Amino acid sequence: ARRRLHVSSPETLDALNKVSHYLTHEHGPVALPTETVYGLGANALNTKASSRIFSVKGRPPDNPLIVHVSSSSMLASLLPSDYQIPPMYRLLMKHFWPGPLTLLFPTNPKIIPSIITANQPTVAIRMPSNPIARALISVADVPIAAPSANSSGKPSPTRAEHVLRDIGGKIRFILDGGPCDVGLESTVVDGLHEDGNLRVLRPGGLPVEEIERVLQMQNPSGSVPKVLVHRRDFTDALLEQAPTTPGMKYRHYSPSIPVILLMTSKAPDAVQCLTPSALIQQLQDTALYDNPPKHIGLLMPSDSSLFQQLIPFSELQWNHFSLGSEREPAVMAQRLFDGLLTLEERSVDLILIQGIDEAREGLAFMNRVIKAAGETRWISLG
Ligand code: TXA
Ligand code: MG
Repeated sequence: ARRRLHVSSPETLDALNKVSHYLTHEHGPVALPTETVYGLGANALNTKASSRIFSVKGRPPDNPLIVHVSSSSMLASLLPSDYQIPPMYRLLMKHFWPGPLTLLFPTNPKIIPSIITANQPTVAIRMPSNPIARALISVADVPIAAPSANSSGKPSPTRAEHVLRDIGGKIRFILDGGPCDVGLESTVVDGLHEDGNLRVLRPGGLPVEEIERVLQMQNPSGSVPKVLVHRRDFTDALLEQAPTTPGMKYRHYSPSIPVILLMTSKAPDAVQCLTPSALIQQLQDTALYDNPPKHIGLLMPSDSSLFQQLIPFSELQWNHFSLGSEREPAVMAQRLFDGLLTLEERSVDLILIQGIDEAREGLAFMNRVIKAAGETRWISLG
């Protein structure tokens, strides 16, 4: 039976009780909404339960899982008993928890199974803000390990329908909490290094600028910890970057159809820049394509001049999924995975995505888009 849950209804409480029993007594993995993306959750304290996450997703065993908690006491119960949470983490938790920020902690191997950490000395933990996720963790009264609820390699699901279509046949329960607010996974950071700086291992829904603002605010004149983030160097023309979390080395976020990233920023030297009409010609070139794509998905903001310049070409059949407005990277980020999955469902032959500035949510947006895209072209908008 399918019904969308509203957090305060009696029906939701029934569903939470049933799902919580399945989690804790039957080692079941369940799909649950979080504010970032849907997660595939299981009891993080149990090896058998957690191993079922890996088999449902087809996830490589060397890619560790994030553990979700609903309270500070649950967090404390997972850490080594003599461990003092560092002041920088306290500050970040005060400002950004619950929310889309994951912190690395030293693990307590007596409590946390090694399957969760993939045998690393650290464990990644976050407190989600989605009320259904929080309620489920509280009712089950166990921390929940949850990667995104997609088959490994696919875009992360931001609506229950995406989960149902991808792994629905392999799991018993999907809690439908409606579309995710953030739409990209959490920002993963590591503040455990001796130098006191914070390393961004995976850019995500919480913009790096927000983290910098809080660290700066706390310490306006004194020594402010640096936020170290790996930004791509476009002169490398999108060469693969060194992996920053175990999970980042895998190809990711790819729908089953080809994706081309279109950049409208200044092209690196030695990269050819195309006009929109040259791009259209390329797409119809039988020397380049055995089967030239006809039905093209456009994943672009409605107010972008790239979009405005492409749609008049009637040689191709356009299918637009709007990313909102170029001026709102948070909205573009929220719609990205939904757009990839929706255009895939509409059976387009090819998806064209517009690149944006790597500022705020744009950093994580571009991180995901580059992994989804098989190739990148630079477009000059005359
Ligand atoms: O927003 C999110 O983070 C979502 C929702 C469900 O909470 N979860 C999610 O999980 O994106 P997943 O498994 O798709 O991504 C977890 C990322 C991976 O890149 C993984 O390698 C990294 O976190 N990670 C987990 N534990 C780690 C650790 N101990 N050290 C370094 N990286 C770690
Ligand atoms: Mg994932």
